[in-house]
Amino acid sequence: MAITVKSDREIELMRESCKILAKVHDELGANIKPGMSTYDIDRLGDKLIRSYGCVPNFLNYNGYPASICVSVNEEVVHGIPKKDRILQEGDIVSLDAGLIYKGYHSDAARTYMVGRVAPEVEELVRITKESFFEGIKMAKAGNYLFDISNAIADYIEPHGYGIVRELVGHGIGTHLHEDPQIPNFRQKRKGPKLVPGMTLAIEPMINLGRADVEWLDDDWTVVAADGLPSAHYENTILITDGEPEILTLL
Ligand code: MF3
Ligand code: CO
Repeated sequence: MAITVKSDREIELMRESCKILAKVHDELGANIKPGMSTYDIDRLGDKLIRSYGCVPNFLNYNGYPASICVSVNEEVVHGIPKKDRILQEGDIVSLDAGLIYKGYHSDAARTYMVGRVAPEVEELVRITKESFFEGIKMAKAGNYLFDISNAIADYIEPHGYGIVRELVGHGIGTHLHEDPQIPNFRQKRKGPKLVPGMTLAIEPMINLGRADVEWLDDDWTVVAADGLPSAHYENTILITDGEPEILTLL
């Protein structure tokens, strides 16, 4: 599949879809507290998405059984919400959410700290978020896709963290996952040239320890093989003639 370049009308719909998702994320983030279950987070997210007249795009995607991916501590992504998985002070929790508005998908993720967390874990969360912003400094028309990948890798590598390789960012639009794939680790090729109107979900997944991941028996939950914490930060962005627009931030 070729990389889609969105028309002005489609860009407006992407902006709207992403703005709603940004509000959903902010409301979810404001509600995270010790004692709540990952299932509670999923139900709240589902309710918020539908309150805006939108549909959660993760629900039933390849059989995924919930509306929000909720991944705690060593869980990297795609954690399945559970009533008996209770957040505790000192945990980190990654919320990955997406929705469909008038046929257009949005996708974003944040990692939150539950109360006070260990300093090295707090730093992992901060550096993961910062790596996204380093990456999108390169997200300009005329640059190449893997300039983004390499900028993320350049920022992460000196910290000694493990950059997850099995999962990558992606194009997004009328489908949740469109071409191109967007790795967060160093690339030897340049990749495709960036063109105004491309909408991309850029999502570094960074492990405190080694990069290796495993899948739990549920065949969804991705965990750090060494059991150390992992952080995730994602926004849907638009390539423009100038600076990129971060569509899933208010
Ligand atoms: N945000 C995830 C991604 O970018 C999508 C979650 S996968 C799902 O790939 F199956 F849960 F939807
Ligand atoms: Co994504």
